[in-house]
Amino acid sequence: MATLGVNIDHLATIRQARGGKEPDPIHGAVIAELAGANGITAHLREDRRHIQDRDIYILKQTVGTHLNLEMAPTAEMVNIAVDVLPYMVTLVPEKREELTTEGGLPVREREKELAKIIETLVSNHIQVSLFIDPEINEIKSARRIGATHIELHTGYYANAKYSAQKEELEKLKDCAKAATTLGLHVNAGHGLNYQNVSAVAQIDQMEELNIGHSIISRAALVGLENAIRDMLALI
Ligand code: PXP
Repeated sequence: MATLGVNIDHLATIRQARGGKEPDPIHGAVIAELAGANGITAHLREDRRHIQDRDIYILKQTVGTHLNLEMAPTAEMVNIAVDVLPYMVTLVPEKREELTTEGGLPVREREKELAKIIETLVSNHIQVSLFIDPEINEIKSARRIGATHIELHTGYYANAKYSAQKEELEKLKDCAKAATTLGLHVNAGHGLNYQNVSAVAQIDQMEELNIGHSIISRAALVGLENAIRDMLALI
């Protein structure tokens, strides 16, 4: 059965909009765990646009499930990961101008450089997942360079419509099967929401789904009524 890793980046995005203390993504992680989340995911971007270094260090102390640190494969981030020692690092490509992670990591193109980073992380007992497009050659490459997990990019599936979405789902299924046969653990994420998650969760080999935007978006709406009532009571 697939489990849920809650991505708390968007809470930090709201905090950074005012540069203050609220909402604290650490509090979000606690609530996510109390609600039954199996893991907490946070992306420390090079430009620190949402999650801050302080968040990652506190999450390491407070998360009782497991912490999945998403990060670009850079020397700075590897140093932080080796210092924090999260349960898992998910390596993602990063462009400063993008709104969110756009594509998978081009593993085949960067095998040598990624292999070194993976070796460093694995030798520190960190599980290493590579966020990749659903392509067999990328999976084989991930295996070759020592990754323990892959995270299949579900953005193409999430954005596709009708029969095209079915085709994208088949690709995800084929890739999940192939990856497991090669000995890799399979996670998935990006763009999963309340309408499209079930089919991906039902893929036999699927271990963890990392979901952020749709959960925080729904929380803003379903939590609004209580927030207004609380404010009215004070006024
Ligand atoms: N997985 C990875 C590697 C991501 O970069 C993101 C977005 O930060 C997610 C999962 C979560 O995607 P979403 O916010 O669309 O649920």
